Amino acid sequence: MARILVLGGYGVFGSRAVERLARVPGLEIVIAGRNLVAAQAAADGLVKRQQARVEAAQLDALTLTPGDIRGSRASIVINTVGPFQAHDYRVARAAIDAGAHYIDLADARAFVCGIGVLDAAAKQAGVLVVSGASSVPALAAAVIDDLAPQFQFMESLTYGISPGNSFDPGAATVASILGGAGRSFTALRDGAVATVHGWQPLVRHRFRDPRLGTRWFGACDVPDLDLFPVRYPTLRSQHFVAGIEVKTFHGGLWALSWLTRAGLVRHPERLAPPMLAVKRRLSFLGSDRGAMFVRVTGQGFDGLAMDRCWELIANAGHGPFIPATPAVILAKALAAGRLAMRGAAPCVGLIDLAEFTTEVADLDIRQSVA
Ligand SMILES: NC(=O)c1ccc[n+]([C@@H]2O[C@H](COP(=O)([O-])OP(=O)(O)OC[C@H]3O[C@@H](n4cnc5c(N)ncnc54)[C@H](OP(=O)(O)O)[C@@H]3O)[C@@H](O)[C@H]2O)c1
Repeated sequence: MARILVLGGYGVFGSRAVERLARVPGLEIVIAGRNLVAAQAAADGLVKRQQARVEAAQLDALTLTPGDIRGSRASIVINTVGPFQAHDYRVARAAIDAGAHYIDLADARAFVCGIGVLDAAAKQAGVLVVSGASSVPALAAAVIDDLAPQFQFMESLTYGISPGNSFDPGAATVASILGGAGRSFTALRDGAVATVHGWQPLVRHRFRDPRLGTRWFGACDVPDLDLFPVRYPTLRSQHFVAGIEVKTFHGGLWALSWLTRAGLVRHPERLAPPMLAVKRRLSFLGSDRGAMFVRVTGQGFDGLAMDRCWELIANAGHGPFIPATPAVILAKALAAGRLAMRGAAPCVGLIDLAEFTTEVADLDIRQSVA
């Protein structure tokens, strides 16, 4: 049976991936990070629910070598160590050299879209290298793939993620969120490439579930902005947005985006520790309800305008399992010998919505389409 090394396995999303994988009898899991005590504590904390054998190891992703992976005896590496915006392919290359499959949760556009440079090496080593096995681009693509057959052609895509305020993000995620504030990037708008600024403008989405109501969102830079216009070539506009449940916090991020854009704040990501501390003190605001939506408009096969909106609501603080789920699905499939693809690619089309739904069936996660 497979042995899975989870780098960052006691972080926010790494620990969720470990928790799900530890339920699989026969799997062996190594929880790794720079802090052996924390890795061991995470392994010990799983004892009651685990079916898999779980161990701890001290490894640094920034100095990781193929020898470290061979030493761990892992056949699959899951990399949750961000911020990927600041990282190169060291971990993926080490996995290839060690003959191990590699899966990461990256959300950095250049990192995910460029992973194909490892394709030849991965094929030669007979391994799969997948980047972005998370909410974006993996789950978003699975939802769009599910909606696409209803359309003669899809024209516009607007989709977003809004975690509940009880969600306690890791430093890497907060650095990634703040790092994008006010920064310019390109996105498809009305059939042309346009310049957009992170967390601008302020837009709203009203969820069908009255417990969620209306939430605020702003534009974010994600790998999908390069991947989806190729995968869905009839698209003329693509908007990816993210939001923070508590409107005052979202407004603060929006204000920060203007300060960055004006050049008054140069490194917004450096504000991650103080902002995280403030958010933790105010965690009683808001709810434990996270949400995601994917709205596609276009033309149906009857020639009429068509509009479909998929919504997901994660209750009871189960939202943070979602970004870990695509990596868990892929790791389980590789471990069971059900995934034969080899080479290196961004994570689009590798999981489908049915697999996602099955994987989260025991969690308080509800989906609907209207
Ligand atoms: N694509 C998507 O849709 C999506 C969605 C959500 C999150 N993400 C990404 O997922 C990543 C993880 O987020 P998170 O909130 O789980 O982060 P986190 O809570 O900060 O966890 C990071 C983990 O990595 C470990 N770590 C940090 N630097 C390391 C190093 N050099 N070597 C080994 N381990 C290291 C940390 O432990 P130590 O510091 O003790 O080593 C910690 O266990 C972020 O980059 C985030 O942007 C992507």
